[in-house]
Amino acid sequence: MNALVVYFSKFGNTQKLAEVIAEGLTGIGDVRTVSSDELTVKDMKDADLLVMGSPTHNMNLPKSVKPVFENLPKRILGGTPVAAFDTSYKMSWLLNQFTASKRLVKKLRKLGGRPILPPEIFHVKEREGPLYEGELERAQAWAGSILMQLD
Ligand SMILES: Cc1cc2nc3c(=O)[nH]c(=O)nc-3n(C[C@H](O)[C@H](O)[C@H](O)COP(=O)(O)O)c2cc1C
Repeated sequence: MNALVVYFSKFGNTQKLAEVIAEGLTGIGDVRTVSSDELTVKDMKDADLLVMGSPTHNMNLPKSVKPVFENLPKRILGGTPVAAFDTSYKMSWLLNQFTASKRLVKKLRKLGGRPILPPEIFHVKEREGPLYEGELERAQAWAGSILMQLD
């Protein structure tokens, strides 16, 4: 199985989580971690599992992530299992509705991806981080939940 963990990260926190999640997925086959600006159409086509992570910027996806989803073949993910996570501040339930992972799941679904878990939020203390204590461990556990969905 080809698992692909794609991330965007301005300050390194989302990247750290992506690496921990990729590590947690080892064992299912070939696991690659790719920055969103290096992602190719072939990468997406070849993926048997696609996990994507991004920070929330202005209650949305960062501007630099949006182009990733442009000009792609329709339904390129045709049924591929997908899961998305983001890094955000701790917020009220209402503001939690506007996070990058929710947007990512929508975009991935539009491309034919099959979400296997709800969008997951990991929390940073300040704009540049760090992540709250325990978030890397939670990311490792989340990778375990992904694996369980694939059984
Ligand atoms: C331009 C900008 C806008 C942001 N807007 C939000 C926001 O709307 N909600 C939020 O929870 N965090 C917001 N943040 C904080 C980011 O979530 C935080 O920088 C990110 O989680 C750090 O991850 P990274 O190290 O991978 O870049 C914003 C950060 C930047 C730089």
